[in-house]
Amino acid sequence: MNLIKKMLVAPAAVLALWAVTAQATTDEAIAERLKPVGEVCIMGEECKGVGAVAVAAGGAARTADDIIAAHCGACHTPGILDAPKVGDTAAWQARATNGIDGLLANAISGLNSMPPKGTCNDCSDDELRAAIEKMSGL
Ligand code: HEC
Repeated sequence: MNLIKKMLVAPAAVLALWAVTAQATTDEAIAERLKPVGEVCIMGEECKGVGAVAVAAGGAARTADDIIAAHCGACHTPGILDAPKVGDTAAWQARATNGIDGLLANAISGLNSMPPKGTCNDCSDDELRAAIEKMSGL
């Protein structure tokens, strides 16, 4: 190999190595960034992620008030589209022919203008129930 070739090959090898290392770092960085914030929990299986969060927050990850403020209040505070108003227990009572369970079932599936889960797609049934109890006073 003549000198010129050597001079070209050596930097090329370094460059190639650098490119591979750089790529590896980038892939790791991307994987880290793509990692979901929350873990996916499967119904019926223990969910360590949620448990850890619940424990860290002192028992409950978020309160009924948090959920109402973030999701339900937009419609249920002003009572738009015939939504039963927060605190109007009589209006909720009239709908609760099958108790809180019946209200919960309709809240989960949605009812006319009421969107499924009241737009709180990551709400558990218990969280929705707590929000309903709080809004209705039942
Ligand atoms: C986009 C507006 C909207 C949002 C957001 C919303 N609701 Fe509603 N909700 C309604 C409307 C409208 C009704 C009345 C539906 C009907 O009877 O036609 C209703 C009715 C209900 C009912 C009564 C169901 C029944 O059996 O009569 C429950 C329970 C309920 N909502 C719970 C919730 C909860 C819990 C949230 C928040 C997690 C929520 N809603 C968020 C609009 C909304």
